[in-house]
Amino acid sequence: MHRIAVIPGDGTGPEVIREGLKVLAAAAKKFAFKYEIKEFDFSGQRYLKTGKLVDDKDIEELKDYSAIYLGAVGDPDVKPGIIETGVLLKLRFALDQYINLRPVKLYDQRFCPLKDKTPQDIDFVVVRENSEGLYKGMGEFQNKGSQDEVAIQISYNTRKGVERCIRYAFEYTRKRNRKKNLTLCGKTNVLTYAWDLWQRTFNEVAKDYPDIKTDYAHVDATTMWFVKNPEWFDVIVTDNMFGDIITDLGAMIQGGMGIAAGGNINPQGVSMFEPIGGSAPKYTGRNVINPLAAVCALSMMLETLGEGKAALAVEAAVIEVARKKIKSLAAGKMGYSTTEVGDLVASRI
Ligand code: IPM
Ligand code: MN
Repeated sequence: MHRIAVIPGDGTGPEVIREGLKVLAAAAKKFAFKYEIKEFDFSGQRYLKTGKLVDDKDIEELKDYSAIYLGAVGDPDVKPGIIETGVLLKLRFALDQYINLRPVKLYDQRFCPLKDKTPQDIDFVVVRENSEGLYKGMGEFQNKGSQDEVAIQISYNTRKGVERCIRYAFEYTRKRNRKKNLTLCGKTNVLTYAWDLWQRTFNEVAKDYPDIKTDYAHVDATTMWFVKNPEWFDVIVTDNMFGDIITDLGAMIQGGMGIAAGGNINPQGVSMFEPIGGSAPKYTGRNVINPLAAVCALSMMLETLGEGKAALAVEAAVIEVARKKIKSLAAGKMGYSTTEVGDLVASRI
């Protein structure tokens, strides 16, 4: 029995999660597995009403679940940073989901903004460190509000934190078994403390994986290669902020936020799966948002739950709907409503 905690969240989150759960029900029927869900209402609106975000008691409760399925976080009525740190980052950090796994896979050439690139060319995975770096929240103001103000934001990198992320990336590259190539994406030429540690750790861990080819690219060059030669990549490992930035570009070359999904992974604990596009306030409640990214996140969750066949079936259904039915992956331009796209996928499981 899989116990799934569902956090619909803000904006279009509830709409896309509803479609994901429709597909989950179809997959459970077809592949004969059992699950139960419990909804948690962490959101901007709840925060405005009650002042509550995610507290330690919530975290303890969530530890009893097999996985978490999250819609979106971000509410324009709440000052930026409050729910992002109080809900999303709190969950990632407190549950020690130290990997953010973001596959970048083009399902149909029509959806790619790059000239002449095909699904063969765009199929790689970014392993983003998800617990440290600049997102740790360390820093301070000095002389706040004055002309002499200084704002310091610290990138916090521990040997243990960097090493567990790099090891995960090597293992993942081996298991993926494609080009068997792992690229470290960093900025060794300027950020000479943090990236010295990353580079040294990468080189040392690489010795344990003689079957994996390795290379290195600066983050600025990486964005260039994403556009020019995305076919070079297999698996990329990088820190929290660089991973955040390059995966938005990755999402664009795979067809946009309507299709991009990710997993916040704790290999020994509770992982959380989400579409990476955010809460899209301007499309909220209009039944126009693309639920496929949430369905792809569901597929990743099924894989982690040990339902590999169901995961593949869900992905295959998404691919078929994307290739044969949908006009565009963009909100409002799909040729179908949100609920219709969910029905199209569910009926193909
Ligand atoms: C993401 C988002 C989050 C991040 C924000 C909402 C905290 O941009 O999942 O990529 O920066 O990680
Ligand atoms: Mn982001």
